[in-house]
Amino acid sequence: MQVRIYKDAATVAKAAAAVFADEITKKDGCVIGLATGSTPVPTYQELIRLNKEGVVDFSKVISYNLDEYVGLAPDHPCSYRRFMNEQLFDHINIDKANTHVPDGLKCNTAEYEEMIHQAGGVDLQLLGIGTDGHIGFNEPADEFVYPTNVVKLTEGTRKDNARFFNSLDEVPTSAISMGIGTIMSARRILMIITGKNKADTVVAALKGPVVPQMPASILRMHQNVLVLLDEDAASKL
Ligand code: PGA
Repeated sequence: MQVRIYKDAATVAKAAAAVFADEITKKDGCVIGLATGSTPVPTYQELIRLNKEGVVDFSKVISYNLDEYVGLAPDHPCSYRRFMNEQLFDHINIDKANTHVPDGLKCNTAEYEEMIHQAGGVDLQLLGIGTDGHIGFNEPADEFVYPTNVVKLTEGTRKDNARFFNSLDEVPTSAISMGIGTIMSARRILMIITGKNKADTVVAALKGPVVPQMPASILRMHQNVLVLLDEDAASKL
């Protein structure tokens, strides 16, 4: 695992976008894994800029998102499909037919896993981290869950994500998520973590024991992981 520390979230975003640009340019039909939440937004803005400047061409890129809320239709204002369209896909030259987000209504776990497999697996997977150490929506648990699965969200995660909804009551209680094994199968992983509220999580994930109670800790078992932190997130390392 390689860890790099940058001044702030904006410089992390520039560095993350450069990693994507490099990977996408290197391979025709590159398969990228994408994430939602606040952390990747500045990276997506950078990618939009690079696409508009002609530096990165998404026309042949295939994407798979990590997760989706159970019970939300793709066009629901808080769905991750909608988030991805608004934050990235609507602004770049990607073919929407090549973009995939798990289906929160059909809960197509096995089909989603198979689709990723048929696409040849993920070349570069982007990850954020929850304050509880979740990756995708794989919450702390007694065991690592390997395939794409339906996960019950912890109250902490629901509270963290309530800011995207009108009220906590509206936050779904479960989500469909790529599993730990699905994520670990990506050939390369890029994790971005910013903000002081993640500083304790960073220490636990990067320095603590590799245990399912801290899902992100498993990434230390992967042979090609790059972690980009801002100074706030790295402040307790
Ligand atoms: P955040 O979410 O970027 O909104 O903090 C990260 C995550 O839950 O993976």
